[in-house]
Amino acid sequence: MLIALFPGDGIGPEIIAQARRVLDALAIDGLIYEEGLVGGAAYKAVGHPLPPETLELAKRADAILFGAVGDPDCDSLERHLRPEQAILGLRKALGLFSNLRPAKVFPELADASALKKEVASAIDLLIVRETNGDVYFGEKGMRKTADGLREGYDIMSYNEEQVRKIAHQGFQAARARRGKLCSVDKANVLETSQLWRDVVIEVSAEYPDVALSHMYVDNAAMQLVRDPGQFDVIVTGNMFGDILSDQASMCVGSIGMLASATLNDSNQGLYEPIHGSAPDIAGQGKANPLATVLSAGMMLRYSLGLPEQADRIEAAVGKALANGARSFDLGGSMNTVEMGDAVLAALV
Ligand code: NAI
Ligand code: MG
Repeated sequence: MLIALFPGDGIGPEIIAQARRVLDALAIDGLIYEEGLVGGAAYKAVGHPLPPETLELAKRADAILFGAVGDPDCDSLERHLRPEQAILGLRKALGLFSNLRPAKVFPELADASALKKEVASAIDLLIVRETNGDVYFGEKGMRKTADGLREGYDIMSYNEEQVRKIAHQGFQAARARRGKLCSVDKANVLETSQLWRDVVIEVSAEYPDVALSHMYVDNAAMQLVRDPGQFDVIVTGNMFGDILSDQASMCVGSIGMLASATLNDSNQGLYEPIHGSAPDIAGQGKANPLATVLSAGMMLRYSLGLPEQADRIEAAVGKALANGARSFDLGGSMNTVEMGDAVLAALV
C-alpha cells in the first residue's frame, strides 16, 4: 500500500516527521512511502503549489498524509499560485467529498475544553460532513426586487445520489465505532432536508446493526453543548456540518489535538490536522504533533483497513498524555520531537 507524504510548509515537515516515526514503529508489512512537494515549498522549488508530479503521486496513492500549507512569503502571489490552492486542487482532482472530524476529549485535557469538565469528559464523537454539495455550490447571485430592493440569493439543493453517498460514509463510520448514527437536518422546514431524511432512512436498510436517529440542526447545536456524550457519529450536510464541526472542535480544546480525513468514493483519503502551517512557531520545535499522529491513525482505520493499528495509535496518544506529555499549546514545555518520543514510549 502506497502512502503519499505531503509535509508542506511551516510546521508541516516537523509534525509529519513525528507521524512517520509512529507509523514506522508499528512495523506494518507492505507500507511504502513516497514524499511529494505541496504548497509554498512546491512553489519555491518548481513554481506551482500543486505540481503535476505531486498530483500524479496523489492519484496513485492509497492514502495521503498531509501536513499543512501556507507561507507568508507567498502572500502576494496571484490566487492560483497561493499555497492553499494545493489542498483545494487535491480535493477536486480526487473527488474527496466526505469530511470526517473526530472530537474526543482525552480525560487529562478536559480542563482545556470550553465546557464544564464533567460534560466535556464524555465527548467522543465523529462528524461526517458532505463537502461537494448544498447551498455553497448552488446557483447564487444578486438581483433587484420589484420594489427596487437589492436581494442576494443562494440556492440550496441536494440530489439523492449525493445524499446516498454521504449516508453510506456515515453508516460505515458508525459501524466501525459504537454503532450509533445521528442524521442532522432541518426536515421540518426544508425540502432538501426532507429528501435527506428519506434517503438516509432508505440507506439504513443496509445497516441493520447501526442505530439511526434524526435530529433538527438547531437542537443538535444545543445538544452538542448540553450533553455531547450522547453522540457517536453525526452525519450532516455541508453547511450544517461546517458550523457543527467548528462548534464541536471548541468543545475539545487545543487546535494541536484535532485530526481530520476527507474521503472519496473508493475510500481513498487525505488525512491532515485541522490546523494550518503555524508560521509563528515554525522551526522552533513548539508544534504539537498529536493532531497529525491521530490523523495517521485515521488513515490506517479508514483507507488502509487496519483498525487494530489505528486503536494502538489512539491508545498510545492517550497513554502519553496520561504520563504527563504536554507540548506548549497544552501548557507544557515538551518540544515536537519529545512529544513524538512520548507516543513511541507509550506504544504497545
Ligand atoms: P494555524 O492553524 O496555522 O495557527 C493558529 C494558531 O494555532 C497559531 O498561533 C499557531 O501557532 C497555533 N497552532 C496551530 N497548530 C499548532 C500545533 N500543532 N501546535 C501548537 N500550536 C499550533 O492558522 P493561521 O495562523 O490562521 O494560518 C497560518 C497558515 O496556515 C495560513 O497560510 C493559512 O492559510 C494556512 N492554513 C492551512 C490549512 C491547511 O493546510 N489545511 C488550514 C488552516 C490554515
Ligand atoms: Mg468552518
